[in-house]
Amino acid sequence: MAAAADFSSNGLPADVVAIARSVRHVAIIMDGNGRWARARGLKRIQGHEHGVESVRAVTRHAARLGLAQLTLFAFSTENWKRPRTEVRTLMRLLKRYLIDERGELMQNRVRLTSIGRIAGLPKDVRRALRDTEALTAGNPGMVLCLALNYGARQELADAARRLALDALAGRVRVDALDDDALEAELARRLYQPEMPPLDLLIRTAGEKRLSNFLLWQMSYGEFHCCDMGWPEFREEDLEEALRDYARRTRTFGGLVRR
Ligand code: IPE
Ligand code: IPE
Ligand code: MG
Repeated sequence: MAAAADFSSNGLPADVVAIARSVRHVAIIMDGNGRWARARGLKRIQGHEHGVESVRAVTRHAARLGLAQLTLFAFSTENWKRPRTEVRTLMRLLKRYLIDERGELMQNRVRLTSIGRIAGLPKDVRRALRDTEALTAGNPGMVLCLALNYGARQELADAARRLALDALAGRVRVDALDDDALEAELARRLYQPEMPPLDLLIRTAGEKRLSNFLLWQMSYGEFHCCDMGWPEFREEDLEEALRDYARRTRTFGGLVRR
């Protein structure tokens, strides 16, 4: 019974639960599906298929831990540069995921949302996305946000265009805004205005790049990079990332209070 005190009543490690409940927003750049597959003599596509298993496991665990929001980078605006067959497979997997996961999302009370240039996705993917978003809209648990056809520069450019159009139409007096109000007006025009700033960004497969992901929201977020490919990433790796995060000192440009 010695370790009993370290676990909460639902069998989850109490320290990680406390960390998960203290953060507002965790995101993951799910990278390395192709390399993971190649290292095992498999096709890249099989890497993506295994990656879906990681999405399922990590989402379920994050929801059980009590995380408020998890955002996953699933397809970037730059990923269209890949061979057409790979893009088509990714879209097929995405659609299947959006349909097959409905029961699982409902069971875990997860609300599915999305960011990105959604209009640029194939019609059948858009429909599956819209239906799953609608089905889960009333769920009170974790927000699972999928970044689809997402690019951070594009998000900022889209927000700037909307602000400019609103200014032209006389809905905002940009010249009369102070610095804080200008920032707030731009933030209100991001894809998901209510999205909290990132506390923690995890990237797998050993890369240490942002790859055009959440530039605005990551301005003071903490990075956690790990070497394993995304298809290997599981519950305990999320826990490790949260523990790593909890060891950081965040001062946001200020000083540590003693
Ligand atoms: C991440 O794995 C999945 C997507 C970007 C859609 P990759 O496909 O980038 O795998 P690597 O980086 O080539 O190994
Ligand atoms: C980032 O991974 C995009 C997603 C995980 C969807 P990439 O594999 O596309 O990024 P780069 O090319 O290594 O920067
Ligand atoms: Mg990659």
